[in-house]
Formats: sequence, structure tokens, C-alpha cells
Amino acid sequence: MKVQKTKPEKNSAQIKSKERVAAHGEVFTAEREVNAMLDLVKQETERIDSRFLEPACGTGNFLVKILERKLDVVKKKYRRSPLDFERNSVLALSSIYGVDILADNAETCRNRLFKIWNKAYKSVCKSDLNEDTQKSAQFILERNIVCGNALSLMKVDENGNDTDCPIVFSEWAFVRGNTMQRKDYTFADLMRIGEGSELAMPSDEGNFLTQYTSDYRRLWQDDKQA
Ligand SMILES: C[S@@+](CC[C@H](N)C(=O)[O-])C[C@H]1O[C@@H](n2cnc3c(N)ncnc32)[C@H](O)[C@@H]1O
Repeated sequence: MKVQKTKPEKNSAQIKSKERVAAHGEVFTAEREVNAMLDLVKQETERIDSRFLEPACGTGNFLVKILERKLDVVKKKYRRSPLDFERNSVLALSSIYGVDILADNAETCRNRLFKIWNKAYKSVCKSDLNEDTQKSAQFILERNIVCGNALSLMKVDENGNDTDCPIVFSEWAFVRGNTMQRKDYTFADLMRIGEGSELAMPSDEGNFLTQYTSDYRRLWQDDKQA
């Protein structure tokens, strides 16, 4: 009987160092497993505004695949209308959240997500490209991908130690036309609202900290108004 041999995945892409594995359990999931797991919730990965949070996101192996799937849908639906593509690609990006305790991982994750979004944006919008929208995309990623401790729900310093600042997530939603609303909640409150079983973002209730509304191409101005 012939035994089919499968080629093992290269370990180097999954592990940075033995020390990091020991200290933080840092082993990245291979693409094949990521896709197999995402296929279990395929419909949700293809819904433009379905929200995903990875509490130990590493460099974003799951989140980049989710963004790619969402952007494929946005492209299929809106490739002939740059403005609609722009608006919906921002919505897709804004639905993706991550936390990692290691600052370099959170940074890499943000960069990977931005690169994927920006490539799709450039390929569809070409001459309609708007630098303000690119700044909004970067602003969303700064807020959505947090360097923090998903167990204590606090932000961490450069050594991975808890600070006094709670992790805060923004709920983004289009409220009319091109106006996007941002409501900030502490991670702790979101966990309480979801009764520990799931992350809930209640649109009309809950103890949100602050609320902003602005054109989706100028979200980065929000903090200046605060
Ligand atoms: C097993 S890796 C998984 C990374 C990613 N989810 C993947 O599948 O490729 C675990 C990740 O969790 C992070 N981590 C460990 N403890 C954490 C904590 N308390 N809060 C947030 N992230 C943590 C590590 O830095 C590491 O990147």
C-alpha cells in the first residue's frame, strides 16, 4: 500500500525564537490551518461588516485572511464604482480587531492589514485615490489593533507589563451617507455586555466612553476634536 507523504510546513515562519515561544506561547498558525478554520464560519468571513476580534492576534495570520475575503466581496460588488468600493472597503477594514501583548506583533499586524487594504484600494480606485481615505484606514488600524493584555484587558508598556490604561475598542458604523459614527467602549465593558460568551457591540446601549461622527475620509480628525 502506498502511503501519501505530506510535506511539513516550514517551522521558521511559525516561530521567531524559542524564548518567545516560552515567554508568550508565540507560535503562528500556518495558512492552511487558518483557511480551514475560517471556512467553518465562511459566510461571516464574506460579510463586509461582520466583526472579528482576535485576542492573541500575533502578526495577524487570521486577520489578514479575513480582510482578503471581505475585500474580494467588496471588489466583486463594487469594482465599477470607485466611491462605493472606497466606502465599503473602509467598512470592511473597520470590522477587524486584534490584541497582542508584543508591540512588534501588533505593529506588523497593522502594517500587513494596511498593505492588503491599500493594494486593493489602489487597484480599483486608481486616479480616484484619496490620501485622506488612506489616513483614515491607518487611523482605524491604530485604534483596532491594540498592544495589550487580553487577560487583564489593559494596555501594556514596551516590556509587556500592564499599564493603567484599559483597552478601548471603537465601534464603527455608517449612520447616513458618508458619515461614519465611532463609539468607544472599554474591552471590559464589551465583555460584560456579552456576558463573557461573546463580544457584543450594542449600537444603542451600553456605557460607551465617547462618540464621534465624521466623514469616513476624515476619521483621523476625530481625536483632534476630542
Ligand atoms: C500561539 S500565538 C498565535 C498568534 C496568531 N493568533 C496566529 O494564529 O498566528 C499567541 C500570540 O498571543 C500573544 N499573547 C500571549 N499572551 C497574551 C496576552 N495575555 N494578551 C494578548 N496577547 C498575548 C503572543 O504574543 C502571540 O503572538
